[in-house]
Amino acid sequence: MDTQCDHKILDEILEKHQYNPGNIIAILQDTQEVYRYLPKDIFPYYSDRLGISQAQIFSIATFYENFSLEPKGKYVIKVCDGTACHVRKSAAILDQLRKELGLSSAKKTTEDLLFTVETVSCLGACGLAPTLTVNDRVMGMMTPQKVTDLLVTLREGKTDAEM
Ligand code: FES
Repeated sequence: MDTQCDHKILDEILEKHQYNPGNIIAILQDTQEVYRYLPKDIFPYYSDRLGISQAQIFSIATFYENFSLEPKGKYVIKVCDGTACHVRKSAAILDQLRKELGLSSAKKTTEDLLFTVETVSCLGACGLAPTLTVNDRVMGMMTPQKVTDLLVTLREGKTDAEM
């Protein structure tokens, strides 16, 4: 499931940041934007080009929660499990998503790399509980039925604006 990186893309990212090792966080952010995660082979490549150790780059990549070393789906769905959402039965939303997509707490991404399902502690939209986000777009007042409809919409490849 690992992606072979296009070194031309990596070089463009490095160039944008003037090959400055001090910009490593921004470099990793730009890389993740392209691949939706940090593929393994960027570590030796960036280490070589920037003159910093792979271990240093790796420790930054694992320190920040926003970086992922695992491939993620095209649609990243984060189900809120904060108190307000929990009380309003967010667990049923999560169960429905996992059931429909064949996912679990251990398996977060579908084989076709279309969906990743994660949980978060509070999305800051408690008034709309239970909430989830699809690629950072907040959707509130969710129900198991709405989850099913949402997956149909996403599978049809609707853009954000059409959802
Ligand atoms: S608890 Fe879910 S948005 Fe705050």
